[in-house]
Amino acid sequence: MSTHPSAVPVRAMLVLGTRPEAIKLAPVARAMAGSEQFEPVVVTTGQHREMLHQMLGLLGVDVRISLDVMRTRQELSDLTARLVQELGGAMRAQRPDLVVVQGDTTTALAGALAAFYEKIPVAHVEAGLRTGVLDNPFPEELNRCLIGRIARWHFAPTARAARHLTDEGVRAEQVFTTGNTVIDNLLWVLAEGTGASAFRTEARRILVTLHRRENQGDRMRAMGRALRRLAHRGDVEIVLPLHKSPAVRDALLPELDGHPGIELVEPLDYLDFAATLAECDLVLTDSGGIQEEAPSLSKPALVLRTTTERPEAVEAGAARLIGTDPDAIVGCAERLLDDPEEYRRMANAGNPFGDGRAASRVLAQLAEDFAADVPVGATAAGPYSAA
Ligand code: UD1
Ligand code: UDP
Repeated sequence: MSTHPSAVPVRAMLVLGTRPEAIKLAPVARAMAGSEQFEPVVVTTGQHREMLHQMLGLLGVDVRISLDVMRTRQELSDLTARLVQELGGAMRAQRPDLVVVQGDTTTALAGALAAFYEKIPVAHVEAGLRTGVLDNPFPEELNRCLIGRIARWHFAPTARAARHLTDEGVRAEQVFTTGNTVIDNLLWVLAEGTGASAFRTEARRILVTLHRRENQGDRMRAMGRALRRLAHRGDVEIVLPLHKSPAVRDALLPELDGHPGIELVEPLDYLDFAATLAECDLVLTDSGGIQEEAPSLSKPALVLRTTTERPEAVEAGAARLIGTDPDAIVGCAERLLDDPEEYRRMANAGNPFGDGRAASRVLAQLAEDFAADVPVGATAAGPYSAA
């Protein structure tokens, strides 16, 4: 592949399909839209229908192509096949200079794979996170590892994530530690406008989200019962924005609907979510992104999972990985609610995920590589071949 003529903007296809990808690629899309060096071509796959569209307008992302892949109760294999096929078609039609994917979703994996088939180099934002357990989170750990084999640029949020990649054999000159774009976005949104908090009372406020596939079914029902026990204290208000996934609703609605002290609400748009997070006392979550946002707003986070690919927050003392056992959930939450010293320690632990300038580092690196007299193509200088 030849070098890129400097007078022509680099045409970057940004592929996103789920709520967290919209949130975390928005800073990159906005920065590219404001730069003469790039022409962003945003493709939404629609892997999430309502939860994605709810985000895009608010986040200032200008969508060029909208695919419509979501099916109710979609199976991963069917979803992956539809995504690869439709994204391959979009790439052939648009001929971007590079494809940008984020994180570990099926959209991200399919975007990277389709780009590889079309011989278009891939930039991976939020690269290098690992739990070390291939099926937990399922299927995201594998997705992220596979994207790591395909990508030409690996934008790691932390030094640890960068190290995972070089330990796996990715060349150090293709790995860049940038911070996480989720912090860029959170700061942008908080500066941009005010949303409405979903909390209604003056009780101790607990914000809960649950959606992971490996927790669905009996385990998620038991987690719901743990929340009911917490609500029985009588001095807490639990707000739980329910993911649109029918599997999540099947598990949680029968346990929690109408229960005093628990408010089940529809997914909040990002402004309202940020306001709700800013107002809460405590976060209980199995979400990836919320583990990163909570420490930025000095909110202790209890991570309701058996593994995390974000141990930095746990090591900093801002989050605790407590698993999915109901007794552990109730016990850890009560300790934090009842022990002000313990609470203060977690709340003040700080944010290890960056300074809010990750997107500008991504753009600077891409601009430098496209302007330099080195090949950027996946086939000419793939991560595992000699340059
Ligand atoms: C996906 C990602 C996960 C990410 C999560 C963020 C994969 C494999 N997983 O998981 O990494 O943490 O998104 O939320 O890519 N649905 C709707 N409307 C929506 C969104 C979803 O109806 O707006 C329903 C669909 O019927 C779908 C189900 O929710 O079948 C699950 O969605 P899916 O994207 O398949 O996986 P998630 O579990 O949401
Ligand atoms: N979020 C939101 N509204 C909600 C719940 C979450 O805007 O009702 C945001 C949250 O701030 C975070 C992102 O969605 O940035 C996390 O998405 P999710 O938990 O669905 O996915 P994950 O991060 O686990 O991949």
